[in-house]
Amino acid sequence: MIIKDIKTLREIIKGEKRRGSSIGFVPTMGYLHEGHLSLIREAKKENDFVVLSIFVNPIQFGPNEDLEQYPRDIKRDTELAKAAGCDLIFNPEVDEVFPKPLKTKVIVEELTEPLCGRSRPTHFQGVTTIVSKLFNMVAADRAYFGQKDAQQAAVIIKMAEDLNFDIAITVCPIVREEDGLAMSSRNVMLNKEERKQALALYGSLELAEDMIVKEGILDPQTIIAKMEDFISDYRLCQIDYIEILDFENLQEIKEIQGKILIALAVKLGPTRLIDNKIMGV
Ligand code: PAJ
Repeated sequence: MIIKDIKTLREIIKGEKRRGSSIGFVPTMGYLHEGHLSLIREAKKENDFVVLSIFVNPIQFGPNEDLEQYPRDIKRDTELAKAAGCDLIFNPEVDEVFPKPLKTKVIVEELTEPLCGRSRPTHFQGVTTIVSKLFNMVAADRAYFGQKDAQQAAVIIKMAEDLNFDIAITVCPIVREEDGLAMSSRNVMLNKEERKQALALYGSLELAEDMIVKEGILDPQTIIAKMEDFISDYRLCQIDYIEILDFENLQEIKEIQGKILIALAVKLGPTRLIDNKIMGV
């Protein structure tokens, strides 16, 4: 069932709740892959009724980003979502979500500053604003996000805590292609050569893990330098950032200890890919 308007969405969800159903919610921008489907399956395990939103949210894209090029295929998405256990797809048009210019924004401070926040300064306020709106539209009991966007997940958890959203948030593991590339809707934008070179992301994370676990190297800068070296052999890759932060507060660390996040963003031609690893040392 595909619903395009907020009023009908609310009526159906109220009906489900009256019947005693618990509601699981998976927000996405569509062009579904196994990563998204893993979230739907997890939601179905824990809830009676699963809502998937498919909405390419214009306010989280910067002026020179790939909003227009972002891949879309609602027919294919519908089949995949249904097979994974989704009960309702909410797929509104931009005018339904933003009938008038917004004068309200949701901003999470500090956690949005490092990593993707540096090169995409308005990205996270676009994400937190749309996710707040979607949380209010869907009124779910539980929402599911992927560790693929580790900073996004951390920001949304903090937002939900700070603003008392009555919704439990689960973060699910990164789903990868067989060769290690993290699944992403943007992977289809890579040409054959770029697809090969995209292995630099996962390869550099594996290298970092080996340096920490096998060689006992605890200096973040040494590890970052080695990752940069490794990626420089992949000539189509242009590094946006590589950072090693403490996982709790997403702050820089002088020495690797406790739970850490190793995260990077790399551009391959016009396509920007991200990946990360969370480790407990
Ligand atoms: P999108 O990129 O479509 O991702 C939707 C959800 O799927 C996010 O929680 C993301 O972390 C998760 N996901 C993507 N690739 C994954 C992978 N390989 N393994 C596991 N999970 C993966 O993230 C967004 O959309 C938007 O910012 C959104 C939250 C919908 C707000 O517009």
